[in-house]
Amino acid sequence: MAKIKTSFFCSDCGHESSGWLGRCPGCGAWNTFVESRKITRPSPGEGRGSWTGDSGSDPTSSTVVRLADVITTGSQRISSGLPELDRVLGGGFVPGALVLIGGDPGIGKSTLLMQSIGKCALRYKTLYVSGEESPQQLKMRADRLEVAAEHINLLAVTDFEAVAQALVSEQPAVAVIDSIQTLYSDHLSSAPGSVSQVREVTAGLLKIAKKHQITIVLVGHVTKDGAIAGPRVLEHMVDTVLYFEGERQQNYRMLRAVKNRFGATDELGLFEMSDRGLQPVENASKAFLEGRPIQVPGSVVTACLEGTRPLLVEIQALLNPSAYGSPQRMAQGLDRNRSIMLMAVLDKHFQFGLNNMDAYINVVGGLRLNETAADLAVICAVASSLKNRPVRKQTLIFGEVGLSGEIRSVSQADRRIQEAVRMGFDTFILPGSVRKSLEKTVLQDQCELYFADRISEALDMLFE
Ligand code: TYD
Ligand code: MG
Repeated sequence: MAKIKTSFFCSDCGHESSGWLGRCPGCGAWNTFVESRKITRPSPGEGRGSWTGDSGSDPTSSTVVRLADVITTGSQRISSGLPELDRVLGGGFVPGALVLIGGDPGIGKSTLLMQSIGKCALRYKTLYVSGEESPQQLKMRADRLEVAAEHINLLAVTDFEAVAQALVSEQPAVAVIDSIQTLYSDHLSSAPGSVSQVREVTAGLLKIAKKHQITIVLVGHVTKDGAIAGPRVLEHMVDTVLYFEGERQQNYRMLRAVKNRFGATDELGLFEMSDRGLQPVENASKAFLEGRPIQVPGSVVTACLEGTRPLLVEIQALLNPSAYGSPQRMAQGLDRNRSIMLMAVLDKHFQFGLNNMDAYINVVGGLRLNETAADLAVICAVASSLKNRPVRKQTLIFGEVGLSGEIRSVSQADRRIQEAVRMGFDTFILPGSVRKSLEKTVLQDQCELYFADRISEALDMLFE
């Protein structure tokens, strides 16, 4: 018989303590401890495990095997049916993987998965478990998305044991759980969505996924401070964590992998929310440059690399004389500290008097740049706004900037340039050190490449 005792868990990071604490030693958050009933595990073989289809301990899992002898039957990936989703997953779902998709409410997680399951269901057995919507609501959404509903199996329950039983008896190739916060297990008395419930349920699903080679996709809501609601422990347990993000006012949605045991984590999937669901964005650069003001001061286009895809984005800077003693610095879509550092470099070398200027820097389109390749474009945008002069027409600028004002190389310069040429750019301001790597690149005659080793050289070429 299982013993019941209570424990306290941090609702932010899942840290466990035997008593209540004001401040979590795990993540430093205040007043996040909640009491949950904790069940100490019965010993193996003592009941339990009925829903996973095993009776007690599994002898095969405790024997040592040689890696070479492991037979990989399910190494074939299962296409999600959406090329953008496949790209982020690293080529599709891996059988037996547990995938977590996080995102703000209303961002489109259910829409994405319904569309994916609709396509998957044509080739594989699937199961869509919804704890949030009734079958009627799901049917209405499927109709709206024009998803072929014949092959999709639905289960609208919130009881974990029922879900587990359905998974084991139905044996789908892919199952969606929408959402993990709505499931609860009878074994625990705490409320659905609480740390211990989510942990317990995810652990159970993990066991089922691995044992029966079912790909299980979990939907997780994100709290207001950006963590997948409740426990971060969930991120450690699953194989892949994807975040679905975007500005709610804009139609673009970005899907990013923050953890992936079976692929790269820097890939970006791009969707547009339409009245018929999420559509893949074919020409991402065009989308991000749409409506760009031509020939205005403070606007510069750069090329960043999101995984394997080069993307053109506009960086805008606005500088105004500061009204207060300490100047304002704001960066949207860019690391604020990095932008402050770049402005310090600029001021050191040119004495522009940026100390008396408020500076606002914005990456247009809601994208977040993590690459240092955008440094030079930020500097040029600031200089252009400061001088109130537009930069050369159809110019693409990229390069990393060092503290001594040098411009450093960036990777895959040729791919960035090719993408810009495709979008009609013909002037390029680049780090001098990429000259060699571009020797084999064939460009049209009208393309002009300017190589700069220092910021001063780049600024000399910046204006017409
Ligand atoms: P949903 O998938 O329900 O979000 P989540 O599961 O992440 O909470 O998406 C809901 C939003 O998407 C809602 O604001 C309406 C919008 N939407 C469309 O614009 N077009 C569509 O075809 C669908 C199904 C939803
Ligand atoms: Mg939903």
